[in-house]
Amino acid sequence: MTINSADFRKAMGAFATGVTIITVDLDGEVHGMTANAFASVSLDPMLVLVCVDHSTRTHAHLHAKKRFGVNVLCEDQRAISEYYARPERTHENAESEAGARFDRTRHGTPILHGSLAYLECRLHSAQIAGDHTIFIAEVEDVVVQEGDPLLFFRGKYRKVGAEIES
Ligand SMILES: Cc1cc2nc3c(=O)[nH]c(=O)nc-3n(C[C@H](O)[C@H](O)[C@H](O)COP(=O)(O)O)c2cc1C
Repeated sequence: MTINSADFRKAMGAFATGVTIITVDLDGEVHGMTANAFASVSLDPMLVLVCVDHSTRTHAHLHAKKRFGVNVLCEDQRAISEYYARPERTHENAESEAGARFDRTRHGTPILHGSLAYLECRLHSAQIAGDHTIFIAEVEDVVVQEGDPLLFFRGKYRKVGAEIES
């Protein structure tokens, strides 16, 4: 069986995910990037992973800073996801264009207002895998809030549907 990249994208698009913004402090500026290739790795120690394209700026920033935040978006944060997926965006326009506001954790990592969950991550290891790098990080702190998530399925943003009764 031979598959092309469109087949691969189609298959992966059938796997519904949440949406995150990976945040890095760049000497006082916030650098954010939309990512859905995020997963839990280990409970003891508590590890997560994010897969980042080599061509992104975030790829270099994660190697350089070795610390980042993962902000899990809620259903009304679609504009923030779109903003941080645009290559030409700037930190200055994040609030006026997408409503993104940030505080800082005690480590200085940017934490997005209104997200469903925040994970403070310290780089553990990085593994090159094709045109991406798998960044594995230890989770040092979390903040969790009530609400419903923003979902991404078959290339479109979605909301959570009704619970399936047993
Ligand atoms: C829903 C969605 C999910 C994405 N997930 C990822 C991802 O997991 N990894 C990745 O490298 N890029 C992902 N992207 C693309 C990046 O957000 C995009 O390339 C961004 O402009 C990179 O920013 P940077 O160059 O400032 O780091 C995703 C985009 C969207 C819209």
